[in-house]
Amino acid sequence: MRVLVVGSGGREHTLAWKIKQCPQVDKVYCAPGNAGISQVAECVPIAADDITALVDFARKEEIDLTVVGPEAPLTAGIVDAFMAAGLRIFGPQKRAAQLEGSKVFAKELMEKYHIPTAESKSFTDVKEALDYLYSQQAPIVIKADGLAAGKGVVVAATLAEAAAAVKRMLVEAEFGSAGSRIIIEEFLAGEEVTVLAFSDGNTTIPMASSQDHKAAYDHDQGPNTGGMGAYSPAPVLTKELLAQVEREVLQPTITGLRAEGIIFKGVLYAGLMITEKGPKVLEYNVRFGDPECQVILPRLKTDLCSIMLAVINNDLANTTIEWYDNHAACVVMASGGYPLAYEKGKVISGLEEAAKLPDVSVFHAGTAEIDGQIVTAGGRVLGVTAWADELAAALAKAYQAVEAISFAAAHYRHDIGQKAICRKG
Ligand code: AMP
Ligand code: GLY
Repeated sequence: MRVLVVGSGGREHTLAWKIKQCPQVDKVYCAPGNAGISQVAECVPIAADDITALVDFARKEEIDLTVVGPEAPLTAGIVDAFMAAGLRIFGPQKRAAQLEGSKVFAKELMEKYHIPTAESKSFTDVKEALDYLYSQQAPIVIKADGLAAGKGVVVAATLAEAAAAVKRMLVEAEFGSAGSRIIIEEFLAGEEVTVLAFSDGNTTIPMASSQDHKAAYDHDQGPNTGGMGAYSPAPVLTKELLAQVEREVLQPTITGLRAEGIIFKGVLYAGLMITEKGPKVLEYNVRFGDPECQVILPRLKTDLCSIMLAVINNDLANTTIEWYDNHAACVVMASGGYPLAYEKGKVISGLEEAAKLPDVSVFHAGTAEIDGQIVTAGGRVLGVTAWADELAAALAKAYQAVEAISFAAAHYRHDIGQKAICRKG
C-alpha cells in the first residue's frame, strides 16, 4: 500500500512513523513534511492546504490511502475533494469538520443533543457582547468562533481583561474573520483531559487517554500554546469516567451529527474538563491532537492502517483495538519566545545521541535541513517522546533525551506529567 500523510508537524511525523510500521505499507509520502519526517517518508513540496495539487499527486502516484494531520485542510474540504476524485482518504468531510471549524456550530450541537459543556452565548456585536459580559462574573472565557491555531481562547481573570479580548476580536479583528463571531463562556474549574476516538459514523472506539500541557511555562503559567508536552494514559480518566464520556459525549456527538445528516468519519477529539459535576466539553477537534498523537500512537498495538481502513469501510464494529500496557511521555522543545515572536534557523545538535536511547523517539515539528544541518524552522521544534512501564521512567527517559539535544534559546517545560505523578502520590 502507498500512503500519503498531509502536514508537517510532530503529529505528522508520528503518523508517518507509525504508518511505516504497518505490514501492508510499502511506501510513505508526506506533504510537505519536515527534516525528521524525511527519515521515514519521502517528503513532497506541496502545502497541506493545496488541495488541488494534493489530489493530482495522489492520482499520479497511485496513493492507496491519504491521512490528514491538521485541521485547516479538513475544514476546507480536502476529504470531499479526494472522495469526489475516487481516492481513499482518512478524515471527516467538510460538514463534519465544522465541529472544530466553528465553535458556535459545536455549541449549538451540544445544546441540541444535551452534551455537557460550559454555559455560553455567541455575539457578533461588540456592544451586546460587552453588555452581556458586564452582567457576568470573572473568571470568564472568551473564544473566537473560527480556527485560530489554538490562540483564539482567552481565559480572563478579570472582566476588564475579558472586555479587552472582546474588543481585540470584534473591533480590532485580531483573528480576522475567525474572530468576527465570539463566544463568551462560563469558566470551568477542574482537571483537563483529552479523549480521542476513532469513529466510522456509527461505531466509536476511544483511544488510550492522554493529557496535554497547553500553557507555555511550568505550573501552567503563561500564554496558551499548541501544546508543550503530553503523557498517556491520564490517570484522571478512570474506567468509570471513560464510560461516562463515551455515554454522555462521544456517542451523542456522533449520533447527533447523524441526526443532522452528517456522517463523522475519522478521529474525534474531545477536550474535556473534569468538573465536580462530571466531564464537560471544552472543545472538539476533528483530528489527532498535537502532541497527544506523539504519546498515543507509540502505545497502539493494533496496526494503524487496518483501523483507518475499517473507519473508511464502515467496519469499526468488527475491529478490536489493542494498546500496550505502558506509559508514554512527550516533552516539546520550542523556540525561545514561542507562542509569541521567535527566531528560526538555529542549528540543532545532539539528535543522533538522543536517537540512540532505547524506547525514545524524537518527533520533529518545526525543523528544516539546510546545508546538511538540521535547524529550527517553527515555534514548536521537537516532540521528544519516550515510553516505559511506568510514567516516571518514561518521563526520566524523555528528559534525558531532551538534555542530549540543544539549540540556541531552546525552551521546554520541566513539569510534564507531574500532575499524574502527584495524583499517584
Ligand atoms: P479550547 O481551544 O477551547 O480547548 O481552549 C483552550 C484552553 O483554554 C483549554 O485547553 C483550557 O485550558 C482553557 N479553557 C477553554 N474553555 C474553558 C472554560 N470554559 N473554562 C476554563 N478553561 C477553559
Ligand atoms: N494539543 C491540542 C491540539 O492538538 O489541538
